[in-house]
Formats: sequence, structure tokens, C-alpha cells
Amino acid sequence: MLADKDRVFTNLFGEHDWHLAGARKRGDWDGTREIIQKGRDWIVNEVKESGLRGRGGAGFPTGLKWSFMPKTSDRPTYLVVNADESEPGTCKDRDILRWDPHKLLEGCVLAGVGMGVGAAYIYIRGEFYNEALRLQAAIDEAYAAGLIGKDACASGYAFDLYLHRGAGAYICGEETGLLESLEGRKGQPRLKPPFPAQVGLYGCPTTVNNVETIAVVPAILKRGAGWFTGIGRPRNSGTKIFCISGHVNAPCNVEEEMGISLRELIERHAGGVRGGWDNLLAVIPGGSSVPVLPKSICDTVLMDFDSLQAVKSGLGTAAVIVMDKSTDIVKAIARLSEFYKHESCGQCTPCREGCGWMWRVMERMVEGSASPAEIDMLLDVSYEVEGHTICALGDAAAWPVQGLIRHFRPEMERRIGEYRELVARRRQAA
Ligand SMILES: Cc1cc2nc3c(=O)[nH]c(=O)nc-3n(C[C@H](O)[C@H](O)[C@H](O)COP(=O)(O)O)c2cc1C
Repeated sequence: MLADKDRVFTNLFGEHDWHLAGARKRGDWDGTREIIQKGRDWIVNEVKESGLRGRGGAGFPTGLKWSFMPKTSDRPTYLVVNADESEPGTCKDRDILRWDPHKLLEGCVLAGVGMGVGAAYIYIRGEFYNEALRLQAAIDEAYAAGLIGKDACASGYAFDLYLHRGAGAYICGEETGLLESLEGRKGQPRLKPPFPAQVGLYGCPTTVNNVETIAVVPAILKRGAGWFTGIGRPRNSGTKIFCISGHVNAPCNVEEEMGISLRELIERHAGGVRGGWDNLLAVIPGGSSVPVLPKSICDTVLMDFDSLQAVKSGLGTAAVIVMDKSTDIVKAIARLSEFYKHESCGQCTPCREGCGWMWRVMERMVEGSASPAEIDMLLDVSYEVEGHTICALGDAAAWPVQGLIRHFRPEMERRIGEYRELVARRRQAA
């Protein structure tokens, strides 16, 4: 369990003043100038040493990602903060934005120095209207106090920050779709390579990072990489905000140690599963994209990147969606298929056609009117979509279906059998 002294997000529940004065009382912007003066290499090395892995879903090592940025460039270079937070079940960045905005802004400056960039854009999802107002107010406070601007924190480093509101499309959370949208075009992901570190925003070297990734950086640089690696497990260090929703007694966001067991997380912080742990059916442990896990795995699994990958799921955005035995699991996954069909940008064929195809077959699986052979066909199609699209939306659509078939095939077969019996009885009666 995470000790209070190790907590990074000390205003996660909005109990304290989010303004600059309140943030300063909690230690934000404290010693920032001295850290800036330690320079680019020191910052990148410390972040590398900390083992910080991106909190946006894929868990890519942050320090390594920063080191891909060119050491010298004749063009501007940028940091882009991904505040699009549209993955169903996920609501952690929102609480950072509204209750701890200065942690994010300080992180932007330090990450900016670490990559030698002079400006950051924060791309915030359109629906976060109040959060955008608050973030802009925090940016204005930071400019007025000289913490960002021509001489950020009186360090001599020039750093500008811009807020950009999206218009509410899941695909704009994908980093290159986001860059397209930021440039004023339709949010359609770009082919990679070239990666954003070579050709990013306005064709210039760019790094895209998640809100939580950036907001945790000041704590790492102030307390040291060793402090961060002392929390969690090897390769899975630090604290993490989990969003626990669904059939629990007290849904919540909570910052915990990486590697906490799923059961402890739910029972300690979310009041347990409705009707008790034995009433649990399944959990989606990392936002809607990652494969669902049945209770037998939930009993023992640990909540970090490697542990969840070992059971063929993922930590994703750490949005824990809990489903008790009252859940129609086939219908729940079919609803996700509908979401991905709706959000596919339609640019590449396997995603555009595959997402719609999977959703239509899933609808028939819900009813039971599919044929048993279609379960394997559905699985095959999901493998044709996975890894064959321009961006990872195709994977995100395929994985929930694969998880369902892996763990709940008997339930799918039972429904098909029941439907067939019903049709036969009706025929006899007619
Ligand atoms: C369809 C799709 C939607 C995504 N949405 C988000 C999002 O809302 N927020 C986010 O941080 N990352 C999102 N990502 C991941 C980003 O592409 C990118 O990997 C991430 O912002 C990198 O940040 P990190 O290295 O700090 O994790 C999404 C990816 C895909 C494929």
C-alpha cells in the first residue's frame, strides 16, 4: 500500500486550493529553477533511471522517448501534452487538470528543458470545458508569476505554453491524430515512420506525452529516481492513479503503488465488489481497450504493466472496470465493439471494415443468432485487424473481443444453443 509520504497527487480529491498559492503550499514550483539549471542531460538521465513508463496506455519508457529528440535542431521543437482522455473508464487526467494543474505545468517546463524544447501545447478534449477554463487560469497565473515565459522561473530558459481544445473525438487521443487535429486538420493518424520525434507538429521534432506522465516528473526530479524505483516493482516503478468504476460499492480515483493486487485495490479503496468478492464476474483492468479478465485471474493478479501482460491483458490507462455476476458480459463487450466502430476514423480498410464487421457479429452473439462457427471466424477477423492498421485503434477494437472469446466462449456457445432451441420450439408450435 502506498504510504502517504510517497503520494504525488496530494490534491486528487480537490480538498485544497488548486490556485498557484495553494499549489505552492504543497511544494509545486519549489526548487524548479535549480532543477532547470542542472540541465538537459541530468533531467533525461534521472527520468530514465526512475524507470517511468508512459501513463497514456502503452507504457513506453519516458526517458528513452525523450532521448529520441534531436540534440540540435534548426527547426523549433515541441512537447505536446495529451489531455484528450477519451478511453472509456478513464478519468484520472481530468482530476489532475482540475485539482492539480500546476503540477502539470511545472512538469511541462521540466520535461521541456529535458528535451530542449521551447514550447508545449496541451491538447485537451473538447468535453473538458470547465477543466480547460481552469487550466488556462493556471497557465495565466504561471505566466504572471514568471514561472513560464521568456525567463521561466528566472532561470534564463524561455518556455511558452499553449492550451488547445479538441472537439470530442476518441481518435484525436492517438498521438499523430492529435497532431493532425492540432494543425487544424481532420484527426486522422499518420503513418509511422517517421515518428513524431523526427517529424511531428508542423513537421518539427515533437514528443507527445500523457498528462499523468508529465505531472509526475517534478516529483521524480525533486525526490530522486531512487525514490521512484523504491515504489512498485522492477520495470514497473512508481505510483499510479487507478480509476475504479462499475459494480463496486464506492467508485473512485486513487493513487496507489504499482503492482498492488487487483483485489486489494478494489477492496481497500472502492468498498469492494457489490455483493462481495465472490459475486465478481470479470474485470477490464486498463480501460476499454484491454482484454477482460475472469474472476479466477482477478483473484491473484497484480496491477502493473508486466503482470497484466503476462495474463494476456494490459495496464493500459489503469481504468479498472468491475463487472459483477449480474453483467451480460457478451452484451458489455458488444457495446465496446459499437464504440470502436463509431470512433474508427475510417482511413484504413482493416479498421473501417473490421470494426463494423466485428460489431455486427457481436450483436448477433448477444442475441445468440450467430452460428457456432462464427466464434472462430470472429476471432480470425480480430487477428486480421490487430496489428494491420495505421494506428492502434484497430488493436483496441480487437482485444476486447479476443478477451471475451478466450475466457467466455462457453457463455457465447450457451446463448447460441439457447437461441437455436427457441427457434426450434417456435417452428414446432407454428
Ligand atoms: C485510439 C487511441 C486513443 C488514444 N487516446 C489517448 C488519450 O486520450 N490520452 C493519452 O494520453 N494517450 C492516448 N493514446 C496513446 C497516445 O497515442 C500516446 O501513446 C500517448 O499519449 C503517449 O504518452 P505517454 O508516452 O506519456 O504514455 C491513444 C492511442 C490510441 C491508439
